[in-house]
Amino acid sequence: MEIDNKNVKYVEYDGLRLPPFVPLLKDPKERFEEIRDMECRKDDVIIAAYPKSGTHWIWEVVCMLLKGKAEYAKETKDFLFLEAIPDMSVVHNLASPRPLNTHIPYRHLPKQHVQNGGKIIHIIRNPKDVAVSMYHQLLDTGLFKTFDFKTYLDKMFLSSACPFSTWFKYEKEYEEAEKKDKFGSIHTIHYENMKKNPIEETRNLAKFLELSTTEELIVEIVDKCSFHKLKQIDSSFKDHSHFKKIIHAEREGFKMPEMLRKGQIGDWKNHFTVALNEQFDDIFKEEMKDSSIQVQFE
Ligand code: A3P
Repeated sequence: MEIDNKNVKYVEYDGLRLPPFVPLLKDPKERFEEIRDMECRKDDVIIAAYPKSGTHWIWEVVCMLLKGKAEYAKETKDFLFLEAIPDMSVVHNLASPRPLNTHIPYRHLPKQHVQNGGKIIHIIRNPKDVAVSMYHQLLDTGLFKTFDFKTYLDKMFLSSACPFSTWFKYEKEYEEAEKKDKFGSIHTIHYENMKKNPIEETRNLAKFLELSTTEELIVEIVDKCSFHKLKQIDSSFKDHSHFKKIIHAEREGFKMPEMLRKGQIGDWKNHFTVALNEQFDDIFKEEMKDSSIQVQFE
């Protein structure tokens, strides 16, 4: 079974295959250079995560923390999604502090931000749930013929055809960067910890951002950013026009993917057979043998 379809034209750069449904609006080389060379401000915050790790969620939490108010942003995080915004002037014209976000690997982050010890919030989610979440998002776009989960794992998620390279490569690069981070400027948050202890994790985020957020506000932010409330807001309040602009929505058969699908830990168990799970565990063990990242599968 093939998972490509003729509607899908891939864009590649530096060995990275970029998502078919969010093609960079400019030449990818030009956009990656613009990101690398962008002018940064001391209080910029970059949320950096592999796709489907909870970027929308943490972006909303960070926006509220930075604003000091538990108020939803009208925009979705795609408004400040570095690799896909229509024009970098969106970022240049924005008031500080800017909650930027990206899925690009560490080596491509804005040079000035990294050199000056600018704050980076890195999210990690267990790769089995990431794989499942991405599988549904790809199917949701309507751009592909239906494909089964095994085919998708073999031909996409575990291969170099995976958007933004494989989860393994992406996470090992951030792990290395964190080890060498002399400023303490990378704060890693595990999706699973955020699910289990949202108050503590949100408190830690506020501390990392050097904000004197009250306990009352932390509790309010956690509540407003719960899965069900965010999902409801996503359909009733959020302005998705920006995302529609960047995704080439005119493609035949394209549908808006569901960004807030289940929001659970362990949905992988509904998709992996015993054999697939064993195959995945073997690959995981081999790929991560020199890594000390503690991944939580349940
Ligand atoms: P699922 O597809 O497993 O539901 P990203 O924002 O990086 O694209 O990640 C999307 C994933 O984060 C989706 O996972 C989505 O449901 C989940 N997510 C978004 N908001 C969440 C929240 N408030 N709580 C838990 N999970 C959330």
